[in-house]
Amino acid sequence: MKISIFGLGYVGATTGACLAKEGHEVVGVDPQPAKLELLRAGKSPIVEEGLDELVSQVVSEGRFRVTDDYRTAVRETDLSLICVGTPSEPSGGLKLDYVRKVSAEIGEAIREKGAYHSVVVRSTVLPGTTEGVVVPILEEKTQGKAGEAFGISMNPEFLREGVSIADFYDPPFTIIGTPSADEFERVRSLYTGIQGDVIHCDLSVAEAIKYGCNVLHALKITFANEMGIFCAEYGVDATAVMEILCKDTKLNISSKYMKPGFAFGGSCLPKDLRACVYAARSKDARLPMLEAALDSNRYQIERVANRIVSFDKRNIGFLGIAFKEGTDDLRESPLVALAEILIGKGYDVRIFDPNVHYASLHGSNREVIDRYLPHLKKALCTAEEVVDHAEVMVLGHNTDVMRQVASRMRPDQIALDLVRAISPASCPARYVGLYW
Ligand SMILES: NC(=O)c1ccc[n+]([C@@H]2O[C@H](COP(=O)([O-])OP(=O)(O)OC[C@H]3O[C@@H](n4cnc5c(N)ncnc54)[C@H](O)[C@@H]3O)[C@@H](O)[C@H]2O)c1
Repeated sequence: MKISIFGLGYVGATTGACLAKEGHEVVGVDPQPAKLELLRAGKSPIVEEGLDELVSQVVSEGRFRVTDDYRTAVRETDLSLICVGTPSEPSGGLKLDYVRKVSAEIGEAIREKGAYHSVVVRSTVLPGTTEGVVVPILEEKTQGKAGEAFGISMNPEFLREGVSIADFYDPPFTIIGTPSADEFERVRSLYTGIQGDVIHCDLSVAEAIKYGCNVLHALKITFANEMGIFCAEYGVDATAVMEILCKDTKLNISSKYMKPGFAFGGSCLPKDLRACVYAARSKDARLPMLEAALDSNRYQIERVANRIVSFDKRNIGFLGIAFKEGTDDLRESPLVALAEILIGKGYDVRIFDPNVHYASLHGSNREVIDRYLPHLKKALCTAEEVVDHAEVMVLGHNTDVMRQVASRMRPDQIALDLVRAISPASCPARYVGLYW
């Protein structure tokens, strides 16, 4: 394929050289004369393992040319990859000046060329940028429509500096966000022979996944480092702890607990998290990320309470109150915390939970209700009563019993699903998913 690459920094230079090596004809565009000079001389503009040799090879074979003339680059190619920088503003926001400028240049050049051209955003941009910033500029400059004058897709980059050539050939996956099946095929053909799954998704999903990945990497490092602090304060070998922890591929290093949803609770997670935070503090150390996890969890509950308030209804039903389905354990249940907030605000709350009957509760659960939630006793009711009562039904447990109860709801009711208990299509009430 004939490809132009806009921006010959870490991403553009590596991607360009690797695509040229794979047999594509690549034209690199950058306004910096020094970078162009180096590349013309067959040298890498960045320090990167193996890139000098690769650039030297593909430049001498004539498969990787460079220019500062964006018009020629678009005219001579079928597809442009946008690899310009998107640095931080002082506010933390993203500086999109380069993306805007390069979109305008490519748009202008497509108009002059007078033929369909594919535009692929590879720079890291916030969700909505391709659709809300790049496409309008391209449409204005080409005086055409996306899908007609030009194709658009978002193809984020997962190369790590230092090992970027190896990562190019063995990426975790290739993500292609585009509304067009043809564009998907065109972008996919760039990576023929490259390892890993190729995933087709929406533009904004492709944009968000890059942030999801980098944020997760930052959180993993911070977690390992905070475990380092915790273990060091107790004279424990942190490396041994983390090595063993990583051997659990069922719960620890797995997709478990990785679905967006409602707050965690129960008798273990909040208590043990608090214990770690307290233990570090008692040694004059801090675990800031773990402290923040408790705050974040509380915020999830408050957000749902605010969402319920926004419905402007007073009669609230709960399907499930124990901290998770299949148990009667109420200790630190986020559903209890949510019910409490609502009861405190004067809402009329009724709760159905097949495992929680006040009369048959005993031990710590009965104590939780007697000591902290005496008002909860009055709220517990049958499935029929909760369906009759609720203007807003909070679906807190994902079970067949709860699905059956929810299936009896009416169109004038709202079902706020915190746990993906039912599909919107099968919900007789107005369905509201938490993050879906
Ligand atoms: N560096 C990485 O390892 C990495 C990894 C994944 C994603 N990303 C993302 O990829 C993007 C590029 O990152 P980078 O590190 O390669 O940036 P960089 O700053 O090293 O390179 C950007 C290049 O774009 C050029 N440029 C600016 N305006 C241009 C224009 N109008 N036309 C052509 N070229 C232009 C600049 O001169 C510069 O050479 C960023 O959004 C970044 O977040 C970077």
